[in-house]
Amino acid sequence: MAIDHAVFVVFGASGDLAKKKTFPALFGLYRQDELPKTTKIFGYARSKLTNEEFHDKFRSNLKLLNDSQQPKIDQFLGITEYFNGSYDDPEAYKRLELAIQQFEKSQSIATPNRIYYLALPPSVFATVAANLKKYNHNGKVKLIVEKPFGHDLPSAKELQAQLAPLFSEDELFRIDHYLGKELVKNLLVLRFGNEIFNASWNKNHIQSIQISFKEPFGTEGRGGYFDSIGIIRDVIQNHLLQVLTLLTMERPTNFKPESIRDEKVKVLKAFAPIDQNDILVGQYVASRDGSKPGYLDDSTVNPDSKCITYAAIGLKIENERWDGVPIVVRAGKALNESKVEVRIQFKQVAKGVFNSIQKNELVLRIQPKPAVYLKLNSKIPGLSNKFSITDLDLTYGSRYNDFWIPEAYESLIRDALHDEHSNFVRDDELELSWGLFTPLLNYLEGPNAPTPLGYHYGDRGVPGLEQFLAKHGYEIQDRDAYQWPVTRPD
Ligand code: BG6
Repeated sequence: MAIDHAVFVVFGASGDLAKKKTFPALFGLYRQDELPKTTKIFGYARSKLTNEEFHDKFRSNLKLLNDSQQPKIDQFLGITEYFNGSYDDPEAYKRLELAIQQFEKSQSIATPNRIYYLALPPSVFATVAANLKKYNHNGKVKLIVEKPFGHDLPSAKELQAQLAPLFSEDELFRIDHYLGKELVKNLLVLRFGNEIFNASWNKNHIQSIQISFKEPFGTEGRGGYFDSIGIIRDVIQNHLLQVLTLLTMERPTNFKPESIRDEKVKVLKAFAPIDQNDILVGQYVASRDGSKPGYLDDSTVNPDSKCITYAAIGLKIENERWDGVPIVVRAGKALNESKVEVRIQFKQVAKGVFNSIQKNELVLRIQPKPAVYLKLNSKIPGLSNKFSITDLDLTYGSRYNDFWIPEAYESLIRDALHDEHSNFVRDDELELSWGLFTPLLNYLEGPNAPTPLGYHYGDRGVPGLEQFLAKHGYEIQDRDAYQWPVTRPD
């Protein structure tokens, strides 16, 4: 059903997330005519700002697809208004209610449709939620919240206990922005819509699964914040685990949100506890040429910090489909490149005819330049009977060149607008994910914490990574035999 009106209120409107992600995403939807015809957006924050000063904070982050869209920027700013208020002052919420009602009245809106977006630290979630419930819960209400949803299992449960009486699961949208990425949204179709993968997606055919997240920059400017977070909370417990869950869950009976989320929960329950000896953890030091600082060079970081900026973790799923299949998730800051990908290595074909033949690999490159490619053996054309590894390649940039591929936040805000919960994290999923990682976090932050291995800013990973991957069944393929063609457009 078409939605013809909505009011968005973005809390934390002058913060980084709102400036870089939330407002640009709302604009992206506006630009594509994906926001309801009658829409009003309030940016709520504590700083005293004029509308213009507020707009100036994010205007340069609004992206156009072509020049003819230029007028849309001013039109969007015309529906986006600043609202100044503190997060714990009932008077501010009453004023907000008046402002919203005034707009609703001016547009003859009988049934309000409100979306509150909390681009705020979790320490104020409960206060804001309680005030919203008391003063601004009118008609259809949705609450979008951002990670971190807690710091460990007990704090996540506590946060949940505070929010649950105020907003029902139906009204709550917990964003994990990886679920809004195009390639991640494609996982279920790739897996269950293709018999070739459907049939081979199990312990009989898959040798190992790897999910790898690499960023080419350190914690520049965020050291103080990151020091109490570390790479596991930052991206593994949420983003990478979400991807892994979609990769390993059973086929849902349909694509309804609860059917999908039920299956995600089921597979999460089958994860074995993490073995604290089956990990590699690291912290970056200055780059080899000395031009980039080490993690501890950041003055906002505790000088003895053991905070990990890199982790590779062995995981196991003990169910019929995955028992015995090694899984490695790894993530690191300050590495040699920017890349997030899933690599599924298939088992070796029977020996005999082939003395040496490479294993098939399916690579799902989430970013940059999304691509799905399947490495397979093929005869070298011509008179020779030799074979080599090559690929079937679906690079989005060349295949879907003319498509608008929404940014993750655009896609998720649109989902929330349409009450589509599939790509949001349900309470039980959240609890299971914290349950899986909390013992490991306690160990890494406890008295017997291992000293992280040093790696240089700009390295490929931590020392010992190749051996770690080999121990988990991953065979590094002959790099000379397979090269991503430099001339291929991406
Ligand atoms: C965020 C983390 O959740 O995800 C950041 O807090 C990280 O540290 C970011 O850089 C990665 O997201 P993306 O979309 O840039 O891969």
